[in-house]
Amino acid sequence: MPSEPPPSSSPASRLPRKFGQYLLFDRIGAGGMAEIFLARARTELGGQRRVVVKQILPSLGAHPQFAEMLIHEAKLAAVLDHANVAQVYDLGRADDRLFIAMEYVEGFDLNDLLRRCTKQKVAVPIELAVTILCDTLRGLDYAHRRTGADGTPLGIVHRDVSPSNVLVSFDGQVKLCDFGIAHANDLVADKSDKGDSPSQTAEALKGKAGYMSPEHARGEAVDARADVFAVGILLWEMLSGKRMYRQVDAGPTLLEQAKRGEMPPLAEKGIASEEVLHGIARKALATNREDRYPSAAAMLRDLESYLADAQLIVSPIRLGDWLVASLGSEIVLERRKRQRAAEALELGPPVKLTPLPFAPSTDTAPVAPSGPPAKLPSSPPRAALAPENAPLPAPSTPSLPPPRSLIGPPPSTASPVELESLHAGPLETTKRANPLNAVYIAFGVLLMLASIYALVPR
Ligand SMILES: Nc1ncnc2c1ncn2[C@@H]1O[C@H](COP(=O)(O)OP(=O)(O)O)[C@@H](O)[C@H]1O
Ligand SMILES: [Mg+2]
Repeated sequence: MPSEPPPSSSPASRLPRKFGQYLLFDRIGAGGMAEIFLARARTELGGQRRVVVKQILPSLGAHPQFAEMLIHEAKLAAVLDHANVAQVYDLGRADDRLFIAMEYVEGFDLNDLLRRCTKQKVAVPIELAVTILCDTLRGLDYAHRRTGADGTPLGIVHRDVSPSNVLVSFDGQVKLCDFGIAHANDLVADKSDKGDSPSQTAEALKGKAGYMSPEHARGEAVDARADVFAVGILLWEMLSGKRMYRQVDAGPTLLEQAKRGEMPPLAEKGIASEEVLHGIARKALATNREDRYPSAAAMLRDLESYLADAQLIVSPIRLGDWLVASLGSEIVLERRKRQRAAEALELGPPVKLTPLPFAPSTDTAPVAPSGPPAKLPSSPPRAALAPENAPLPAPSTPSLPPPRSLIGPPPSTASPVELESLHAGPLETTKRANPLNAVYIAFGVLLMLASIYALVPR
């Protein structure tokens, strides 16, 4: 995965800031193609809602073919309206940057969730791991089946089903994001690989190879079965607690491994009816797509039957409860971070007060701070991506102790993002000038003058 671009301290990177009709107030992540901001949008009736704004990296946005393709794909994605798909609201250009605005899913992406579980030595119960995959498949199946108004299939394929695009909200909703966006990247990467134009997209594409179907890696046309393969990799990884394709020194690259598409054997972990799950993984991961599940719905049916036969009960409420029970303190911290950024937005620009004519002018601290805006405390990116070979926690059954695959040091997090504010002080210890201060000072000075006046002998 490409590393996070370092935040610059130029005014353009300060937060909160206006961007088109949006107010960006928190930078929540960065991927190979875009920077992700939490933003506030005004609705038609004057209401406000939180949205995610993906600012496409300038180098990609300036590429005409990429832009054209992205717009085409995002328009298709915008018609998707399903509980398991993050809704696309808007697509456009502002300040010369191409952007997509979409539903904000307050939670963890699957990569982040598994990384945190590894760190906290918590195993994901198997029924919850499977339910995350079932919801992902529901979103995929809906999109794969979408037709235009005339009934012709839209041919939507996600192309980038990977843990960072599976969002799990704190209340247990699972939503897939970034439908079709990889398509634009594929197209440009293909060109740049052939030397048509220098681009970082080839690198970005290779970064995605960890979840690619063999046909996609070979550059062939893909259909819904490529997404099924990717969900197969997610299942394999959740069962084994490790990455399926791993880059080792001098070994084949991720892309080479993806082209071969060989499924490594799965070890027994003592999970309920494990052989059934292994069979589902094998079928989803068939190298030849003719041997694969023909659709997301077919794989979903088998996973649902597994849950029913193993008498495992699941629901978003249970997933949400488990998240709170296992990662409650992390959720509180995440929420607080977002809250602080939102408060910065509420407070508006710093107040500048003119000193009163009779206020003492020497030595005293200024009422309102002046000078350049101070940096806010660093806020680490929520979406720091684990290295490709980082261990993942394997799922557990409630009756069994957590599997031993919760091993290995937690992957190091990416360098923290510095959030800069237009405001004058750190948010935690807000030194913002309170307009009432001026009134208090004036009142104090008047009181002092009155007492002096009273004491003066007449
Ligand atoms: N709609 C969203 N709601 C909440 N978080 C999001 C949303 N979209 C993206 N993110 C976060 O931003 C991260 C980076 O997004 P993205 O640019 O798509 O990178 P990647 O290529 O790794 O998926 C995601 O992994 C996720 O944690
Ligand atoms: Mg993404």
